[in-house]
Amino acid sequence: MAGVQIDSLDIVFGNVTVLKDLSLSVAEGEFLVLLGPSGCGKSTLLHTLAGFNEVSTGRIRIGERDVTWDDPKDRGIGMVFQSYALYPTMNVERNMSFGLRVAGLPREEIDKRVARAAQMLHLTELLKRRPSQLSGGQRQRVAIGRALVRDAQVYLFDEPLSNLDAKLRAELRRELKQLHLQLGTTMVYVTHDQVEAMTLASRIAVMQGGRIRQIDTPQRVYAEPVDMFVAGFLGAPSMNFVEGRLQREADRLWFVAPALRADVSSYRFATPPAEGAAVVLGARPEHVALSGDDAAAAGRARVTLVEPMGSNQVIWLDASGTPIALERTAGEAPAVGEQLGFALRPQGLSLFDAKTQMRL
Ligand SMILES: Nc1ncnc2c1ncn2[C@@H]1O[C@H](COP(=O)(O)OP(=O)(O)O)[C@@H](O)[C@H]1O
Ligand SMILES: [Mg+2]
Repeated sequence: MAGVQIDSLDIVFGNVTVLKDLSLSVAEGEFLVLLGPSGCGKSTLLHTLAGFNEVSTGRIRIGERDVTWDDPKDRGIGMVFQSYALYPTMNVERNMSFGLRVAGLPREEIDKRVARAAQMLHLTELLKRRPSQLSGGQRQRVAIGRALVRDAQVYLFDEPLSNLDAKLRAELRRELKQLHLQLGTTMVYVTHDQVEAMTLASRIAVMQGGRIRQIDTPQRVYAEPVDMFVAGFLGAPSMNFVEGRLQREADRLWFVAPALRADVSSYRFATPPAEGAAVVLGARPEHVALSGDDAAAAGRARVTLVEPMGSNQVIWLDASGTPIALERTAGEAPAVGEQLGFALRPQGLSLFDAKTQMRL
């Protein structure tokens, strides 16, 4: 088992710099998730860790070893890709043991490792089957097993669940988390799916345009996003953004916009804003509530749509032209077209600089 240390990494393809001065430290035993939109450089970072890309600038260490120039096979990593890429003519057992046989490991050792991985991944009964006789989820478990038998120091996963349907994806996601609890091995996991990131990660690194915007626990990234990109990327429906100004009145500080007013006196500023500066208020849908009490309401709005979600419902509002999503426990829903007051929970609010889009 080992941690990973990346220092000032640049990855250049032709004349395009895909990763820019990227540094990242993954603790031993951590489940780090790289999260970001398509094209932000997640796979490039993972492939570079695995040794498939030439490094222009920077260093990579796995454990105590500098592996920047090492061959992929010498890095002590196991990798699982998005497509299972199993050998169709080999059964599960031979698919899983292929790499070990090529490496010339003794037969006994191979059998031991395959049996252990098969047990962890619930594949023992399926060892003699061919890939065509397996479901998508089972195939992906074989692909994971193929990586596990390597007894790697670090496991790398590149969107391993994205080819599966929703139910299987959730199932295998839980199995992966269980596997990590069992093994305790360092894992770096790439996804563009924020639910996977939130549920699996010990820390999430949110990437955009070849850089890491924020790296922190799922709770912190969700509750205290460093900028509007991170704020908008996590959470569904997305965080509501309202542009306005800060105004001091007596001993209170107010956020004021045509759509709403909110008392932000208790807000913990990381950077105090200039008086009267343009700011953006961010409120997650679960921090907006309907309010029958006009004195406590942040504003009034018209109901434009109700989306029942089983245990929850999302109510879409139009507050003087500003769309606002509100999430609450399912129950009686207001009628479309109804005018209602809404309130904001002060603890859940974020404030951003309207120009730099950075958290205040
Ligand atoms: N071998 C390559 N040659 C040129 N450009 C590449 C290569 N691989 C990736 N890129 C570019 O690098 C950027 C990041 O790609 P990638 O790491 O695959 O993103 P992600 O995995 O986050 O979707 C994209 O703009 C992609 O087009
Ligand atoms: Mg990718």
